[in-house]
Amino acid sequence: MKLIYTGKTKNVFELEDGNYLLKFKDDVTGENGVFDPGANTVGLTLEGAGRAGLSLTKHFFEVLKEQGIPTHYIDANIDEATMTVRPATVFGKGLEVICRYRAVGSFLRRYGLYAEEGQALDAFVEVTLKDDDRQDPPISEDALDMLGILTKAEYAVLKDLTQQIGNVVKAELAKKDIELYDIKFEFGRVGEGKEIVLIDEISGGNMRAYKNGEYIEPLQLEKLMLEA
Ligand SMILES: Nc1ncnc2c1ncn2[C@@H]1O[C@H](COP(=O)(O)OP(=O)(O)O)[C@@H](O)[C@H]1O
Ligand SMILES: [Mg+2]
Repeated sequence: MKLIYTGKTKNVFELEDGNYLLKFKDDVTGENGVFDPGANTVGLTLEGAGRAGLSLTKHFFEVLKEQGIPTHYIDANIDEATMTVRPATVFGKGLEVICRYRAVGSFLRRYGLYAEEGQALDAFVEVTLKDDDRQDPPISEDALDMLGILTKAEYAVLKDLTQQIGNVVKAELAKKDIELYDIKFEFGRVGEGKEIVLIDEISGGNMRAYKNGEYIEPLQLEKLMLEA
């Protein structure tokens, strides 16, 4: 198999049959040893983070499959910290799609003049460009269309899938009395039909979750979510 991309938290390999293998590392995004799902740097390395992130990702992708929501997921090997997926092409040089249920993080930093910390948001969707040099700028639907990154019809699909998937994750967390504040997804086009599907991962490293008003770290979230 061939290494095709070295990411911040995963490496991507191409398999003989054309599928991709994602290898989850123990690296987590953040700054100076503090976890931040919105950060563009590796902030800390936590023993077991890769396997834990993959275990939660596997759980959510299987729930999505049961609900008929399309993703790139094929299967996962927890011991090896690897996940086999269908290869996708991303929009432009990559987008992140955020679904927000409470005003925290970059939303609050940008809109603090109008929004109160922790204010309820109704599965509010925002798109950002994956562009480390420009700190992942937010981009509007019009700009996505005008720059040829995504058509308006594709945007509608992306937004709808984001809210559906966000709501699935929110409901799964709620079963453990955990509240989802926000979550970040990636999408791509797969197969001949260029179907838009969820790609990448759904782990503690992609979301902010709270229990009794207290923030839950990714490793702790993965433990709480997967224990019987
Ligand atoms: N099914 C897929 N097809 C193609 N690329 C994918 C797929 N799933 C995830 N990726 C990409 O693989 C990379 C995973 O590594 P990661 O460490 O998360 O990267 P990054 O540093 O870009 O966040 C991401 O760039 C993501 O867009
Ligand atoms: Mg990533």
